Amino acid sequence: MKIYQIDCSARKKGSTSRELANKLLERIKKSEDEVIYRDLDDEMLFVAGLTESGMTIPENERTDQHKKMFELSDKLVKELKESDILIISTPIYNFGPPATLKAWSDLAARVKSTFKYSEDGKQIGLLENKKVYLVITSGGTKVGSKEDFLTPWLLHVLNFFGIKNIEIISADQMSIDYEGSIKKAEDEINKIT
Ligand SMILES: Cc1cc2nc3c(=O)[nH]c(=O)nc-3n(C[C@H](O)[C@H](O)[C@H](O)COP(=O)(O)O)c2cc1C
Repeated sequence: MKIYQIDCSARKKGSTSRELANKLLERIKKSEDEVIYRDLDDEMLFVAGLTESGMTIPENERTDQHKKMFELSDKLVKELKESDILIISTPIYNFGPPATLKAWSDLAARVKSTFKYSEDGKQIGLLENKKVYLVITSGGTKVGSKEDFLTPWLLHVLNFFGIKNIEIISADQMSIDYEGSIKKAEDEINKIT
């Protein structure tokens, strides 16, 4: 199995989402598994300078900026397609995803790679048979509440890619009860078989 871990907290040291994702990885990883790691906080680009409505620019018309964007997008799509199990760890930032995670989704949504259009124009996800664990942390926002725009958005994007088997581990409202919140998330991780 290939396990693909994606972290995106803007802080490295002391990041709860990263720590919980590592604990989850240790919990599910078998000795024969391969782990692919990506830190969105280390390298990210915004989709910009497009000439078409989607992410398509003929190769001979690509500027250096376009080339960098397509290179990163191709890499992210390849990693995603090759993986069997994904761990995505993310804090809630301003009630939604960190900007790097939103930018990742823009680069990962590639027609004929992660989704396609049916003959009647419907979008069909192309990433099947993958299991995803989401590790979500927050200060005051309750995961699943009406102020949480991250979780429904991320679930929707993953569904759009064809990924349906998704489990959520959350350490939310850490500013209210830090220890209780971490314990709840660790208990959820320890229950994974
Ligand atoms: C830019 C920014 C925006 C944030 N916005 C929210 C928010 O809308 N709701 C919330 O509950 N916490 C918010 N927080 C707090 C983080 O979600 C919380 O500290 C989280 O646990 C950080 O994860 P980490 O420890 O992995 O970095 C925000 C933090 C930052 C840096």
